[in-house]
Amino acid sequence: MASNRYWLVLPAAGVGKRLGSSTPKQYLRVAGHSLIEWALRPFLEDRACENAVVALATADANWAGVRSQLSRAVYEVPGGAERRDSVLAALRHLKEIGVADEEWVLVHDAARPCVSRAEITALCQAVWQVSPESHGSDRQGPESQRIEGGILALPLTDTVKRGALEHGQVASRDTLSREGLWRALTPQMFRLGALREALEATAREGRVPTDEAQAMEWQGAGALLVAGEATNIKVTTQSDLTLIEGVLSHRAREPR
Ligand code: CTP
Ligand code: MG
Repeated sequence: MASNRYWLVLPAAGVGKRLGSSTPKQYLRVAGHSLIEWALRPFLEDRACENAVVALATADANWAGVRSQLSRAVYEVPGGAERRDSVLAALRHLKEIGVADEEWVLVHDAARPCVSRAEITALCQAVWQVSPESHGSDRQGPESQRIEGGILALPLTDTVKRGALEHGQVASRDTLSREGLWRALTPQMFRLGALREALEATAREGRVPTDEAQAMEWQGAGALLVAGEATNIKVTTQSDLTLIEGVLSHRAREPR
């Protein structure tokens, strides 16, 4: 496979505890489609996307209805207890079906339905531009400076406070510099072998990374921060749902 192709891994095995809806949030319908369909769509329409592996909860009763709506058949694997375990299950599956360790994987949350084609393209272009053709090239210099992939991210724009508990309330006595601080979004893009090994290591060490990039950082590998869009919201709470309703309704009206 040429290096300008990638596989998608979509962790979708969460229950959406913080949102508190009886249907897992990735299956809520907004603007005519479930959130997971919205999240998959720009990848499945992208010719650079080889195919997708979706990690699902074992008792998932909603996926069958989504599967029948997709433009292509995708791979399905059982997810795990943590998001990390769901991603790892999908990466192990890619290895099992013979995908080479050098190939690129984009990991994208099923709960981020507004990711755009432009963001996906920007991430891929940025990573492919800095990446040597194959592992083992010394073009990038010493170990401590390795860049092994990239993630979509947004520079912080608000003033950042540290909250501390005082008399049962949260109070601020400290303002942090937001210089150099970014919010990590998805997709996050790394080579299959390096990412699988990094996540396997976290499982062995009994620590849970909050994203793929953190697992890679623990291996000494950096990731490019590629500017994403503020609309690439992860649905966590009810107000996120209100925001994405606006974005997706607008998209649904756009000519395709
Ligand atoms: N996810 C997963 N496997 C898990 C936990 C989460 O595949 N064991 C997926 C979710 O389905 C979601 C993405 O990882 O698409 C991001 O996780 P998050 O927003 O935390 O979703 P939930 O875990 O479902 O939500 P909550 O933490 O509120 O329960
Ligand atoms: Mg969660």
